Amino acid sequence: MAEDKILIVDDEESMCQYLAILLRKEGYEVLTVNCGVQALKVIAKQKIDLVMTDIQMPKMDGIQLLKGIKALDPSTTVIIMTAYASEQSAIDAVNLGAFSYLQKHCKNDEIRMVVRNALALRQARTENTELKKKLTRTTKSKKIIGQSPGMRSVFKMVEKIASTSATVLIKGESGTGKELIAQSIHQYSGRVDGPFVAINCGAIPETLLESQLFGHVKGSFTGADRDHDGFCRQACGGTIFLDEIGETPHAIQVKLLRMLQEREIYPVGSSKPVKVDLRVVAATNRDLEQEVAEGNFRIDLFYRLNVIPLNLPALRARIDDIPLLVDHFLRRLCPTEYQGNLSSMISDAALKALHAYDWPGNVRELENIIERASIIRDAEVITVNDLPLDLQVESSSEQIAGQMSVGGHITLDDLEKAHILAVLESTNGARKQTSEILGINASTLYRKLKKYGVQDPDEVQDGLDEDEEGVTKSDLLNAVDSALREADVEASKMEDEPLEVV
Ligand SMILES: Nc1ncnc2c1ncn2[C@@H]1O[C@H](COP(=O)(O)OP(=O)(O)OP(=O)(O)O)[C@@H](O)[C@H]1O
Ligand SMILES: [Mg+2]
Repeated sequence: MAEDKILIVDDEESMCQYLAILLRKEGYEVLTVNCGVQALKVIAKQKIDLVMTDIQMPKMDGIQLLKGIKALDPSTTVIIMTAYASEQSAIDAVNLGAFSYLQKHCKNDEIRMVVRNALALRQARTENTELKKKLTRTTKSKKIIGQSPGMRSVFKMVEKIASTSATVLIKGESGTGKELIAQSIHQYSGRVDGPFVAINCGAIPETLLESQLFGHVKGSFTGADRDHDGFCRQACGGTIFLDEIGETPHAIQVKLLRMLQEREIYPVGSSKPVKVDLRVVAATNRDLEQEVAEGNFRIDLFYRLNVIPLNLPALRARIDDIPLLVDHFLRRLCPTEYQGNLSSMISDAALKALHAYDWPGNVRELENIIERASIIRDAEVITVNDLPLDLQVESSSEQIAGQMSVGGHITLDDLEKAHILAVLESTNGARKQTSEILGINASTLYRKLKKYGVQDPDEVQDGLDEDEEGVTKSDLLNAVDSALREADVEASKMEDEPLEVV
């Protein structure tokens, strides 16, 4: 490590020389100047770790110099030297940001100690700033939410294995957060300063996948008019995330196996192996053991990948995480409105409906539903009506089941309510069509909806009916749904980039 650089500022040359000799003996690099202006010039040109300045100097005194230094580089540590132990101006200097003051002509040991402490503090501050930077980088990346036992054990495992170079296989249904976990393994590893390169093995045609992964040399196939590194070389020093590994064609599986075993690759068109230093994290939503049993996936590659298996639980298996996730998404989606009180943003009934749902699309689906609800809600609070109809139906059948298990009976009203909801869902919320199917007129439907508190009929009356205003609430919901779907498609397109053929 480079030695610390100290600048001594004193109009008394003998004092400068005395301190310089003392501190050089301690191994520091020492510069000396005789006035504040010269000191500022030095500091403007080079990094100085510590400035020791006399307080009383002609033209620019120590306090003025201190202010100048803090303006130039606030991280520079300053020690003020005074003639008397408790000179008021020295105390003022500390208040202005000087590390400490030293009485001139104090014992050498005291000088050494104050200098050592000042530099140690500076070192700690620098490390702290570095850590903060690292933390900002980590927190800027998406947070992973979960306190259920299933997620806790995933987090524990990530903590344990992140710092190793072991290959990880993340298994989980679609939308459970496999890519998020892969990123956090990278972020908590020693490779954090290296690249994280994600590739969706299922989305790239077989003919392109090999050159995308391993690169190619110029002229190796039509259109290969220059050398291309490929994802594996781009990920050197970092992590490669092989998503949808179960979809990798057989021919590429062999080459991946070679990369995992030998840590080298052959670019397309080259017979020269290239060493790669990367960590492999793979993910799948398929049952890979089953794929192996059916002959679709190489068993040797499976074992190479499955060194550390991580199973991400489905959302339906950890419904206790739902309020936390909703809280997390609402904080992100409505930063100005959300004051940290979940019940001021979403009704109890709506939360219940979220708990009762099956979540085939897991966290991604929940994220989309909350985003959609926060856009279409009329009131501040998200209500059941802002959720997709199948969630509303599920919550009402849940209620029925609940009542049956409690009281042992289902009332006719329960059945009627569930039936109305089911028809409403099938018509996508169109009230006119719903009342026709049910064989009742629109005002009876309105009354019943009001009675069961399923949907806010006033809100429907407020002009969201097709006949009255030309735009139904379901039109609005469909529009939001398709916008969200498009956003997903766009996002997944971006994930798959770069897909260009070079
Ligand atoms: N535990 C979680 N906390 C916060 N957000 C999450 C969590 N799990 C998933 N998400 C969010 O859900 C979405 C889907 O996550 P991700 O892409 O990591 O899932 P996946 O398992 O890779 O899905 P797929 O199998 O479809 O590729 C992302 O927007 C992600 O930020
Ligand atoms: Mg994914």
